Amino acid sequence: MSAFLSLRDLWVEYGDKIVLERVNLDIAEGSFVSVIGPSGAGKSSLLRVILGQEQPTRGTILLDGAPLPPECGPDRGVVFQRYSVFPHLTALQNTMFALECTQAPLLARLFGAARDKARAEAAAMLEAVGLGDSLHLYPAQMSGGMQQRLAIAQALIQRPRILLLDEPFGALDPGIRADMHKLITQLWRDFGLTIIMVTHDLREAFALGTRVLTLDKRRHDPQAPHRYGATAVYDLTLRPRTDVAA
Ligand SMILES: Nc1ncnc2c1ncn2[C@@H]1O[C@H](COP(=O)(O)OP(=O)(O)O)[C@@H](O)[C@H]1O
Ligand SMILES: [Mg+2]
Repeated sequence: MSAFLSLRDLWVEYGDKIVLERVNLDIAEGSFVSVIGPSGAGKSSLLRVILGQEQPTRGTILLDGAPLPPECGPDRGVVFQRYSVFPHLTALQNTMFALECTQAPLLARLFGAARDKARAEAAAMLEAVGLGDSLHLYPAQMSGGMQQRLAIAQALIQRPRILLLDEPFGALDPGIRADMHKLITQLWRDFGLTIIMVTHDLREAFALGTRVLTLDKRRHDPQAPHRYGATAVYDLTLRPRTDVAA
């Protein structure tokens, strides 16, 4: 049986600079994979190719055994460290907009009953991320933690199967980060998500992940630092997903 998400001999190069080489990974559905590694190792590049924002130079990515569609799709959602929410839209409007973009790609606007349904769905999602009392706030009126909650709601409203997180809590204070850890663990379970999260916080990586993957270069050429790329040098399975404490 093939894995849920499978990366086969994946390479990412920018010009003559090799960033990732020979990445082979099978990711089980429902797992929570933490990705760590030094700055510049290609962690964000890895997320971008899985998201479909960028094409790998070589190699394939299979989802349920079939090649991943070569563009971003609703099956994959993403949250970055700092999210550029639309400043002129409220939390509710920002979340509805994400839905309108998929359901009405040309106009990015729904009408009548479809719009009422989208509004109800967006409100329910904001409730699920803890923003039930903040539907009508504008981003400028929200804390960094609340903005990340909004970014998560926008990613999840499209009902992705895979959620990609690129240092999503890196800019938050430790107390707020602990709340976000609870939230993401809850959402991971409730929505049956497969999560791939890049973090530079080792404790976070081990506390949340069912698996911790380290990207780094195996080989260095001091005369030509770009010659070799990073790959998965350590790959630790910590626990089956059901063992993770809430
Ligand atoms: N679009 C691009 N063009 C050229 N080089 C890039 C591009 N994107 C990333 N890089 C380079 O690829 C390397 C890996 O970047 P990145 O994936 O952002 O690493 P990480 O997220 O692990 O810090 C870095 O050296 C970066 O400068
Ligand atoms: Mg990065």
